[in-house]
Amino acid sequence: MSGTETPILRLSGITKSYGTVQALRGAALEVNPNEVVALVGDNGAGKSTMIKVISGVVQPDTGQIEVDGQPVTFGSPLAPRKYGIETVYQDLALASDLDPAANLYLGREILRPGLLGRLGVLDKPRMRAGADEAFARLSVGLQDTRSRVGTMSGGQRQGIAVARAVLWASRLVLMDEPTAALGVVQTDRVRALIESVREQGVSVILVSHNLPFVFEVADRIEVLRLGQRVAVFKRSETTVEQVLGAMTGALSAT
Ligand SMILES: Nc1ncnc2c1ncn2[C@@H]1O[C@H](COP(=O)(O)OP(=O)(O)OP(=O)(O)O)[C@@H](O)[C@H]1O
Ligand SMILES: [Mg+2]
Repeated sequence: MSGTETPILRLSGITKSYGTVQALRGAALEVNPNEVVALVGDNGAGKSTMIKVISGVVQPDTGQIEVDGQPVTFGSPLAPRKYGIETVYQDLALASDLDPAANLYLGREILRPGLLGRLGVLDKPRMRAGADEAFARLSVGLQDTRSRVGTMSGGQRQGIAVARAVLWASRLVLMDEPTAALGVVQTDRVRALIESVREQGVSVILVSHNLPFVFEVADRIEVLRLGQRVAVFKRSETTVEQVLGAMTGALSAT
């Protein structure tokens, strides 16, 4: 990772208040091409608020967002999508009654060519083929791809949600606590998914309280405390103790 490349995403001076609560106080974040960045911090540090700013769900009061060095405005959740930025929400936002393929194309359904398409008839074979290809590429193990997503395990649903984000993300995937509800095996599955995402040249911002997991998957670790970035670490040059120190304020910022 050279120090001279332009980040694919840069946030600076981001402030956001909810009434009297200052969730973000001049927060900053950078993501380089092909990089997994972990965003860590204590409860209430502002991590989810940052993710929501990037996914266009929350509008910051002040601050700048740049994509490839160009200023952008993410005024709605549709805006970041145009830049190839997709989010895996903590609740996964899957439709339980639909099968995995339908979930992958939720809101972006492919219609049949010609008149049938103009009448709104879905091209299910094409969507199913696209879904199967995405699940295979990301090694999402689904025994029955025609079952309703609601019947599937937590790890499988996580895999489907990540696959949906990756299918549409050409630049960056945001994940807020992707392993919070998962067991050891399922957590390992998400780790493998994050690695496949990076192999496809897509960067990841990962919010997690699971520091051992963060140390397994992240290239860099950015620490938020009280709504500000207080430290940036290269994973390979850092200990868990240093990160914990920055999170709690026991160590001075680097
Ligand atoms: N919609 C909201 N309305 C009011 N206050 C909010 C709202 N969302 C967040 N906050 C407040 O903003 C601060 C930052 O919250 P945020 O959810 O970003 O923290 P976090 O770092 O994600 O914490 P956690 O690790 O617990 O998920 C907190 O004090 C929180 O109570
Ligand atoms: Mg949060």
